[in-house]
Amino acid sequence: MRAVVYHGPGQKSWEEVPDPEILDEGDAIVRVDATTICGTDLHILNGDVPDVHQGRILGHEAVGTVWDAGEGVHTVAPGDRVLVSCISACGTCRFCREGRYGQCLCGGGWVLGHTIDGTQAEYVRVPYADTSTYQIPDALSDEEALMLADILPTGYEVGVLNGNVRPGDLVAVVGAGPVGLAAIAGAQLYSPGHIVAIDLSDARLEAAKRFGADVTINNSREDPLRVIRDLTGDLAGRLGADVSIEAVGTPATFELAVKLVRPCGRIANIGVHGAPVTLDLDEQWIRDITITTGLVDTYSTPALLKLVASGQIDVKPFITHHLGLDEFDEAYDTFARAADTSALKVALTRSDDE
Ligand SMILES: NC(=O)c1ccc[n+]([C@@H]2O[C@H](COP(=O)([O-])OP(=O)(O)OC[C@H]3O[C@@H](n4cnc5c(N)ncnc54)[C@H](O)[C@@H]3O)[C@@H](O)[C@H]2O)c1
Ligand SMILES: [Zn+2]
Ligand SMILES: [Zn+2]
Repeated sequence: MRAVVYHGPGQKSWEEVPDPEILDEGDAIVRVDATTICGTDLHILNGDVPDVHQGRILGHEAVGTVWDAGEGVHTVAPGDRVLVSCISACGTCRFCREGRYGQCLCGGGWVLGHTIDGTQAEYVRVPYADTSTYQIPDALSDEEALMLADILPTGYEVGVLNGNVRPGDLVAVVGAGPVGLAAIAGAQLYSPGHIVAIDLSDARLEAAKRFGADVTINNSREDPLRVIRDLTGDLAGRLGADVSIEAVGTPATFELAVKLVRPCGRIANIGVHGAPVTLDLDEQWIRDITITTGLVDTYSTPALLKLVASGQIDVKPFITHHLGLDEFDEAYDTFARAADTSALKVALTRSDDE
């Protein structure tokens, strides 16, 4: 089969590799019908995720058809259309029993395209298939369901729920890439007072408006702290966002997210960081802030599937580019140059003659 293989920072190629095989009775082999690229893949290519070794097949998002299943797989069978979650789960370890699948102790968690071969391929081996895949409601297309593999649960769990967004809150979202936009879509469910999107790219800020941000700030031109303080009617500099969500993964954006929040506010970090970040505790200790970090667990996937199927969350606007499965070079280039291409999610789908 063919797959996107990582060859060290800045290097990857779409090349011929051996087909995956069932290694454990809980495994399934899934034929990839649709896959996409995450900001995390860009971090990997930037050398920010050292656990990813050369030779690894990238990708942790897919919708596909079960091709083969080990003897221990009971809930999905060959021919089933499934969502392959970015998080695999053994379902039985201490963390999985608490729904904290991201921290699975038995070879689950974020493994696809990280510590085992991933989904940017014609076929993928999915460990613990029973607890790592989801049947897809008929109402959802493959591309729509693909938005639930990572970005939607990530924005919702690690941004909105960790940040404890409440009705009336001023929610600041730093970074309006697909994950930040998913956080905006998820925050909408809680009737916030304002959603303020902050990004360096005007194209992404336009997208943020479509997903429900009522204020957008290009922080290359405007000071977000000043805008947010104006919004809260605060002249003494003591108010700010109730919740700030960091969805970029750089020292500058994390520090900005901390600055934007009011005393007693909540900062939810989503970004994958490749470098240490300064937390100015000499300024912050007195402000009673809460900072959360998180790898997505995907415990919200069943609820989000219902919200998308019922139309309460519209995922179609996430998909800006449609390409074939062998067009990864163009797909990576389009996604990495999002400010020029206006790309959000680039969906790569298998054609029937492949
Ligand atoms: N915690 C998790 O489980 C998890 C899961 C998935 C993705 N992530 C991470 O979430 C982050 C966002 O993912 P994505 O797919 O949306 O990535 P992306 O690269 O498409 O989007 C990042 C956005 O940040 C903006 N940006 C960059 N520097 C900025 C700055 N200084 N100020 C304001 N905006 C800035 C960019 O213009 C871009 O729109 C990444 O760090 C990704 O690795 C985390
Ligand atoms: Zn991801
Ligand atoms: Zn587990």
